[in-house]
Amino acid sequence: MAEYLELPSKAIPVGLDMLRLNLENQYVSIIRGQDAAAIQDRYFADHFMVIDQMNELLASESEAQAFARVKELFGQLFAPGRMVWTPREKMSPFSAAGEKSYWTESGRGFGIFFSHKGEDLGILELDDLAFEQYKERYLALALPLATVCSMAIATARATEDRVETQEALLRAARIVESSDDAIISKTLDGVIVSWNQGAKNICGYDHDQVIGKSTSFLVPNGQYDEMPHLLEKIRTGQLAGIIETVWKTRDERLLNVSVQVSPILCDKGKVVGASSIVRDITQEKQKIERERASLNAQLQQAQKMESVGRLAGGVAHDYNNMLGVIMGFAEMALEKVGPEDPLHSDLIEIQSAAKRSTNITRQLLAFARKQTIAPVVLDLNKDVEQMLKMLQRLIREDIDLAWRPQPDLWTVKLDPSQIDQILVNLCVNARDAIEGVGKITIETKTVTIDESYCADHLGFTPGDFVVLAVSDNGCGMDKDTLNKIFEPFFTTKGVGIGTGLGLATVYGIVKQNNGFINVYSEPGKGTTFKIYLPRFRGESVESCRVTVKEAPIGRGETVLVVEDEPAILKFIQKILTPLNYQVLQATSPSEAIRLAEENSGRISLLITDVVMPEINGRQLYIQLKALIPGLKCLFMSGYTANVIAHRSMLDEGVNFIPKPFSKRDLAVKVRDVLD
Ligand SMILES: Nc1ncnc2c1ncn2[C@@H]1O[C@H](COP(=O)(O)OP(=O)(O)OP(=O)(O)O)[C@@H](O)[C@H]1O
Ligand SMILES: [Mg+2]
Repeated sequence: MAEYLELPSKAIPVGLDMLRLNLENQYVSIIRGQDAAAIQDRYFADHFMVIDQMNELLASESEAQAFARVKELFGQLFAPGRMVWTPREKMSPFSAAGEKSYWTESGRGFGIFFSHKGEDLGILELDDLAFEQYKERYLALALPLATVCSMAIATARATEDRVETQEALLRAARIVESSDDAIISKTLDGVIVSWNQGAKNICGYDHDQVIGKSTSFLVPNGQYDEMPHLLEKIRTGQLAGIIETVWKTRDERLLNVSVQVSPILCDKGKVVGASSIVRDITQEKQKIERERASLNAQLQQAQKMESVGRLAGGVAHDYNNMLGVIMGFAEMALEKVGPEDPLHSDLIEIQSAAKRSTNITRQLLAFARKQTIAPVVLDLNKDVEQMLKMLQRLIREDIDLAWRPQPDLWTVKLDPSQIDQILVNLCVNARDAIEGVGKITIETKTVTIDESYCADHLGFTPGDFVVLAVSDNGCGMDKDTLNKIFEPFFTTKGVGIGTGLGLATVYGIVKQNNGFINVYSEPGKGTTFKIYLPRFRGESVESCRVTVKEAPIGRGETVLVVEDEPAILKFIQKILTPLNYQVLQATSPSEAIRLAEENSGRISLLITDVVMPEINGRQLYIQLKALIPGLKCLFMSGYTANVIAHRSMLDEGVNFIPKPFSKRDLAVKVRDVLD
């Protein structure tokens, strides 16, 4: 009900006689024609309702409506200039007990307390009465009227409460009935007493088929029935809580359900039964299962990448050694047979097959970030420029290769051979994505990425970067493909066409150099790969790619070669001896130390494997240097050994030749180190 209703009466003031007549007419019209006893019976509690205009007041009418009518009545009868209703919540606690009315401060009206059966309802104040001189007689008339009106308001309120409770119960019943969840109540012995539509929907059984039965028929054969245990808990006043279990439906399907069991109490608070709210969680369960499976797959994927990496690293050592031997001997044999010899072409075949094999190991090593690299400070523009001819040959003639360098690029520190690997892989992929005529664009530019950009863009790290971008207007990729492209062995190309190692290699290289990659692709439109390489800060050194045609000749220096693989040892000796070097061979570090002691005066270079039994190459070098001051050293290895490198970056000043190497590679490197 509204507070402090303040409404000037709309009624026309009437004289006292008219009012009395009016009032009496109202009363008379109630009583007249009706059996007093019947009124008593039917209406006594709310018989005010029968009065005049208010006789439409129904049992369901609200308190507010009843009050509005009361106000209307008082307004019409007494025609006050001002009428204020103060509901009980706002009534002053100081109003004298038992008081029924008071005169207003203005002296031109009165206030009446409305109460019913000792319960306050509110105060109605009528002021500025039009016929102020009749106020006492008005009050005398108003008091009994207020008693009846109070009854009407109180009745309306009680009815309203009752209706509300009924409605609440009805609502509750409707909720239970229409719930998708099954709501089942049972006795403490587990006998079903109610079964709603939800229960029918979930389990398939009709109400009639289950009432009076135990829920155990829902438990699949061989499965433990938890219900008796839960009911026992309920009986002893414990909380049974929620369980997840499996139920069998009428058509023999198995469902995952969650069952929440709660006690049902009687009016006296005694536990008389239990209600179960049952939800079918089969789909949720399956979703969780699927998510778990996908997480597992991701984990397996990561483990696969990891183990491929480890495998690559492991294979490299032995496999590269053997490839080196194959290539080396093929190279030397080729020098002995002229092009007219029928063996010549066979040897060429052997050589090129071995070279192709080295490429595969090289890619695996790059992916595993185990590729030994010798980073140099370089200007990407110059480096890419040197490769353009080769790249143009790699892609077809009907594909246009555009080169858009940004002038004054920042320098980066990278192994030049890794730039080759990145560009070749990206360009070949771009070529394969283009059917017929197309365009590949290679661009460079500098970008600075700040923290706020990183916050909005996943996968970026802040800093200065040189970007190498390769774009094509080929077939593009869908989301599914994009998600997998960096996985080793992921390829959409046919068997024998793609190995799926290209982008894995690029990924490994970029990661090894603390960069990152971004790919933008749209099916049917094309693809752009952007490689972000961190800007090099420090003194820059001009990079130059050495290309030597002839194997340089030695000056009779003595070289101590330590290698536990006899075939390689023999191969190195066969390369170096004809090039005018004295070669001392050792298959173990101890043998090397012995030889060094015997020949300390003349050894100028140690060529040693990095990973060996006994002690590693670096330790051997340190020991021998103590014997031979000024001794130079060239390490060789099939993969990065942390002995000479950190995170696969060669330590400064360390000379290294990756296996497998050709005769010329070795000759150049040996000369390099000695000079
Ligand atoms: N520019 C591109 N446009 C469209 N799809 C591409 C592009 N680059 C890569 N892809 C997709 O990514 C896959 C993986 O590329 P990735 O270079 O790793 O392997 P590959 O090219 O299939 O084989 P490999 O490079 O080992 O010969 C490709 O098979 C292709 O589906
Ligand atoms: Mg590729």
